[in-house]
Amino acid sequence: MDNSKIKRYTVTAALPYTNGPVHIGHLAGVYIPADIYARYLRSNKRDVKFVCGSDENGVPITLKAKREGVSPQEIVDKYHKIIGDSFKEFGVSFDIYHRTSSLTHHHTASDFFETLYKKGVFEEEVTEQYYDESAKQFLADRYITGTCPKCGNENAYGDQCENCGSTLNATDLINPKSTLSGDQPILKETKNWFLPLDKYEDRLRAYIESHKEWRPNVYGQCQSWLNAGLQPRAMTRDLDWGIRVPVRGAEGKVLYVWFDAPIGYISATKELCDYAKLDVWNPKAEEYYISNVETDKCGWEEYWKDEDTKLVHFIGKDNIVFHCIIFPAMLMAHGDYILADNVPANEFLNLEGQKISTSKNWAVWLNEYLREFEGKQDVLRYVLTATAPETKDNDFTWKDFQARNNNELVAILGNFVNRVVVLTHKYFNGAVPTVMEILPEDQAVIDDLATYPAKISASIENYRFREALSEVMNVARLGNKYLAETEPWKVIKTDEDRVRTILNIALQIAANIQILIEPFLPFTAEKLMKMLRNGGHTWEDAGSVNLLKRGHEIGEGELLFDKIEDAAIDFQIEKLNQSKANNSAANVEAIPAKENIQFDDFTAMDIRVATIVAAEKVEKTKKLLKLTVNTGIDERTVVSGIAEHYKPEDIIGTQVSIIVNLAPREIKGILSQGMILMAENSEGKLTFVAPTQKFEEGSVIR
Ligand code: MF3
Ligand code: ZN
Repeated sequence: MDNSKIKRYTVTAALPYTNGPVHIGHLAGVYIPADIYARYLRSNKRDVKFVCGSDENGVPITLKAKREGVSPQEIVDKYHKIIGDSFKEFGVSFDIYHRTSSLTHHHTASDFFETLYKKGVFEEEVTEQYYDESAKQFLADRYITGTCPKCGNENAYGDQCENCGSTLNATDLINPKSTLSGDQPILKETKNWFLPLDKYEDRLRAYIESHKEWRPNVYGQCQSWLNAGLQPRAMTRDLDWGIRVPVRGAEGKVLYVWFDAPIGYISATKELCDYAKLDVWNPKAEEYYISNVETDKCGWEEYWKDEDTKLVHFIGKDNIVFHCIIFPAMLMAHGDYILADNVPANEFLNLEGQKISTSKNWAVWLNEYLREFEGKQDVLRYVLTATAPETKDNDFTWKDFQARNNNELVAILGNFVNRVVVLTHKYFNGAVPTVMEILPEDQAVIDDLATYPAKISASIENYRFREALSEVMNVARLGNKYLAETEPWKVIKTDEDRVRTILNIALQIAANIQILIEPFLPFTAEKLMKMLRNGGHTWEDAGSVNLLKRGHEIGEGELLFDKIEDAAIDFQIEKLNQSKANNSAANVEAIPAKENIQFDDFTAMDIRVATIVAAEKVEKTKKLLKLTVNTGIDERTVVSGIAEHYKPEDIIGTQVSIIVNLAPREIKGILSQGMILMAENSEGKLTFVAPTQKFEEGSVIR
C-alpha cells in the first residue's frame, strides 16, 4: 500500500484459544511482533487500533472442558483472565483485549452470517457427516482425528493437518477416530451451510497475486491452495457451544469457529470504539482490558471499511489459510470490507530442540515466566525477537536466553547506558554538558547515528523485526565504541572541555536508544526515560543529537539489566526434564497384573537387606556380574544380570534387597545363591530396589 495514502492502521493479533495459558511460541510467533509494530506506529503518531481477544468458541474449548470435568464457560472464564492478565503484565499494548463470548461479538458474527445468508451466498446442503454413536454427537474439527490424505500425518484434525498445513474436511481423513470415545464414527446425514470458496477462486487469486511482497512462506502456501483448487466449506457445525446459527431450521447448530473467530477482530474494534463514544466509565472495560482510548477519532467502521486503512494480521503459520483464503472470501462475499494488506505469519518456535506441546507440557508458559522472572519482561521480549522464527522454524534454549541476557543486554546495552549516566554524575553533577568543539571522530559518530532511524523503520515496516532489533543494538555498540575510543575517564585529567563534548554526544546516543528501543523493550525505555528525565520524544525525533538540552539534569542511574545466574537457568531446565519424565511415565502401557497369590505365598519368600562387598564381570558375558554380598546371615555369591547398567567399581557398598531362600543355581560355572531385586522400567532400564536409608544387613523385607 502506498504509504502516503494510509490514514489509519488496524493491527490484529490472532485470538488465542482460551483453553490454556499462552506460551513462548505464541509470543514469538504473533504477539511480540504485533506489539512491536503497533508501538512503532504509535511512536510515529499514526492512527492505529491494535485489537485482540480470547477465541472462546469451538472444539478446543469444549474438549478441554470435558477433560477437566467442568463447563466450557468455566474454562473460558478461567483462561480469559489468565491470558488477559499476563498479556497486560508483559506489556502487550492492545487497545482492547476482547472475547468472543461477549454479546457484541455474538451479535456481530450473527449479523455477518445473516447478511451472507440473505445475499444467497451459502449453499445449503444435506451431507453425511461423522457421528459418534456412544457420545451421541456429530464430530467435526478437533473431535475427530485420522490420517491426513495429503501428507500421511496420523494425527491430523477433522478441519486441518498441522503437519502440512492443509485444511481438511472431516470426511477426507483416512482411518477417522472419535476423540470422544476413540471409536470409529458412523456417517449420518445433517444439513449445513457451505461457503462456496470455489466461486471466489478467481478473486482470491487476484488478491493474493497483487501481494507479491508477502513473505514467501505465506505467498507460497496461498499459491499451492489456489492451484490445488478450492472447495465449498461448511460454516456451520452440529455442536452446542458457540454462536447460534441465525437461520430457521438450524436449531442445535452453531457457527464454525473459524467463521466467527476472525469476525472477533471486528467486534473487538466495535467494542473499543463504542465504549469510547459512551465517554463514561464502562464497567466492562476491566473485563475487556481496554486502554489507549481516544474518544475523538473512533468509529469502528473506518478501521474496517475505508480503503485508506491498512489492515495487518499477525498470525502463526498454522493460521495462514484461514486469514488468506477463508476470511478474505467471507469479506468479499459481504462486500463492505477491506482486505488485509499483509499477513506476516511466522514459522514455529521449538523449545530445546523439540516441538512445543501443550499436552506434553513442553512449553514455557508466560504466566509462569512472569512469576519466576519478575521484572524481566524485556529479557524475554528481547530473546524472542532476536530469535524470532520469521523465515524458518527456530529454537529457544535456556542457555541461549542466559547468554543473550548476559552478553548482549547486560554487556552491551546496560553497560553503555550505565557508563554514560555514571560519568555524567561524576564529572558534571548530572547536568548535560555543553558541546565545545566537534572533532572529526565525533562527527563520524553523529553522522552514523543519524542513519539508524530510517534503517530501523524500513526493517519494521517490512516486518523484519529481528533485523530491526539488531540495528537498535548496533546503536548501543556505536556508543560503547565511541566511549572506548575517546576514553573520557582518562581525558578528564587533562582536558575537561573535551569530556564535555564526548559525554554530551554519548548522552544523546542514550536518548536515541530510548526512542528506538521502545517498540521492542518498553520497560527498558521507561527506565531510560526516568534515568535521563527525557519524555515526550517520538520516532521522528530519533537521529538527532539535540534530544537532551545542555544543563538538563538527568536522574539517578539504575542498572537496566542484571546478570542471570546459572541457578535460575538450571531450575528451568530441571522443570523441562520433569515434563519429559512425566511424559515417558504417562506413555508407559502398564504391564497387566499377575494372577492373585495368597499371603502365605508371599511370606514364603525370605527377602533381606544386604550390602555389596565385591563385584566383578563374569568373563565372556555381556550382562552378568558376580557379586559378593553381606546378607547379615553370611557372605555369599550372587550372579546378577546387571552389567549393562552398573559398573562393578561403582556399586561396592551399595545396599540392595536379596531373596536369600531361592534355591541356588549354577550360572556360567558359578553357584548363585539368591537373587537381587531390581526394578525395570518400560525402556528396560534397571535399578536396585533398596531401603531409602542405610539399614542393617539382614533386616527383613516384608
Ligand atoms: N484461536 C486460533 C488459534 O489459536 C486463532 C484464531 S485467529 C482468528 O490458532 F482470526 F480467528 F481470530
Ligand atoms: Zn498433512
